[in-house]
Amino acid sequence: MKISIIGSGYVGLTTALALAHTGSSVILLDVSEDRIVSIREGRAPFYEPGVDGLLSDHIRKGSVRATMDYQEAINGSDLTFLAVGTPMDSDGRMDASYIKAAARSTGEAIARKGVPHIVVVKSTVLPGTTEGVILPILKDTGATMASIAMCPEFLREGSAMEDALHPDRVVIGCLDDTTFTTLKELFEPTDSRVLRCDPTTAEMIKYASNSFLATKISFANEISRICEVTGIDVYDVMEGVGMDSRISPQFLRAGAGFGGSCFPKDVSALIRAASDKGMKTPLMDSVMLNNDIQPVHLVDVMEEKLGVISDKRILILGLAFKPDTDDVRETRSLPVAKELSTRGGVVGGHDPQAGPNFATLMSDMRIFKDLDEAVDWAEVIILMTEWPVYRNYPFGEKGHLLFVFDGRRTIDPKRLGKIGYWAMGSPL
Ligand code: NAD
Ligand code: UGA
Repeated sequence: MKISIIGSGYVGLTTALALAHTGSSVILLDVSEDRIVSIREGRAPFYEPGVDGLLSDHIRKGSVRATMDYQEAINGSDLTFLAVGTPMDSDGRMDASYIKAAARSTGEAIARKGVPHIVVVKSTVLPGTTEGVILPILKDTGATMASIAMCPEFLREGSAMEDALHPDRVVIGCLDDTTFTTLKELFEPTDSRVLRCDPTTAEMIKYASNSFLATKISFANEISRICEVTGIDVYDVMEGVGMDSRISPQFLRAGAGFGGSCFPKDVSALIRAASDKGMKTPLMDSVMLNNDIQPVHLVDVMEEKLGVISDKRILILGLAFKPDTDDVRETRSLPVAKELSTRGGVVGGHDPQAGPNFATLMSDMRIFKDLDEAVDWAEVIILMTEWPVYRNYPFGEKGHLLFVFDGRRTIDPKRLGKIGYWAMGSPL
C-alpha cells in the first residue's frame, strides 16, 4: 500500500519503518527540515535502538522517502497517518494546534489531488477530537474523503522499533467496514490482536491505558513510602503482589516516579478534559500528586541520611526519563536536580545519551561526558535512570564516595564495600 505519514517523530518514523518492513511504500513528512535531512541520510533524528539500521536500509531501497511538501506526500499515497505531537499546554490541557495544522495542510493537498483518500489519526487525541475537530477541518478544506479512522499508538520509547513491529494489540476506531478491512490488512503481518471500535472509543482506550499504567506506578510508589517506614522492602512486596495473574508484575517498580512525553501529559489532559465537563477525577489527581511527591521525598531522605546537602558534590546518574532514549521530556531527574540545588547542593549530571538535551532544561548544571571523571568528581551518587552502564560500574572501587542513593533499584549494594547505600522503597 502507498502510505504517507505526517510527523516524523518517535511514532511517525517507527510506524513508517514497520509498514515498509511489511511491504508498504511510505512517504514521511515533517515541518522540521533538520528531521527530514537526517531521515534522508538514513540517520534517526533521535536516539532510539534499532531505528538507524532499518532506516538506512529502507532509504537505500526507496521504500521510505522523506519530504516537507504536503502535495508530494498526498499525491504519492492513498492513506495518510497523522502522527504529529499533541503536547501539554501551559494549563495542562492537550495542545491541539499541531494536529489541527497538520489536518488542514493534509486536507488542502487531498482537495487539490481530487481523489478519495483515507486519513487515520495516530497521535494521542482526546475523545471526540477525530470526529469533532479533525474531520470538520478536513471537510472544510474540500478534501475528497474516503473515510477517517483513529488508530492509537502504544509503543514505548527505548523499545519503539520492536513495539512497532510487534504490537500487543491494534485498535482500529472507524466508521465503516471498508476502512476496517483496509487497516486490518495493513497491520495483518504484525500478527497482533485487533479490536474494532468507533474513533471516540479508540481515543479513550489510549488515555485509559496510559492513565492505568501511571496509576499502577503511583500505587507502587505510595505503598513504597509506607514500606520504608514499616521496615519492609517494597520490591519483595510487589514480587508477591505481581504473582497474581489478575495484577501482573509490570509497572509496579517503585522509584522516582514516571516521566516521559506521555504519561504526565496524557493523565493531565484527561483530568483537564473531565474538569471542563464538570467531572471530578480524585483518583487521577492523586496519581499526579504522588508523582510530584516522589522526587522531593527522595531528596528529603538524602538530607536525612547525609545530615547536610549544602556542602556536598552530588552526581545524578541518568538524565533521560528512562534508559535507551535521549528524551528528557518530564524526566524525574529535573525536579531532583532543582530540589538539590535549592537546598544548596553542588549538582552534576551524566547520561550516556541525554546530556545535551538535559542541558537545554538546566543550563547551569555541570554535565559530564565521561563517567569516570564524573564519579571521581562526586561525593554522593544518585541514580535516576537504570542504564546498564551504571548497573555494572565498579562504584565499590571508588573509596572517596560517601553514599549511593538508588532511585531505580539498579545497583547491587553488595558491590559497594563501605559506601553507604539506600534504595527507594527499602527500609529507612
Ligand atoms: P515527536 O515530538 O517526537 O514528533 C512529532 C513530529 O511532528 C515532530 O517531528 C514535529 O516537527 C512534527 N510536526 C509538528 N507539527 C507538524 C505539522 N503541522 N506538519 C508536519 N509535521 C509536524 O512526537 P511523538 O513522540 O512521535 O508523538 C506523536 C504523537 O504520538 C503524540 O500525540 C504522542 O502523544 C503520541 N504517542 C507518542 C509515543 C511515544 O512514545 N513518543 C507513544 C505513543 C503515542
Ligand atoms: C508509555 C507507555 O508504556 C506506552 O504504552 C505508550 O505508548 C507511551 O507511554 C506513550 O503514550 O507515549 P514510555 O513513556 O515510552 O511509554 O515508557 P514507559 O516504559 O512506559 O515508562 C514511562 C515512565 O514510567 C518512565 O519514567 C519509567 O521510569 C517509569 N516507570 C515505568 C516506573 O517508574 N515504574 C515502572 O514500573 C514502569
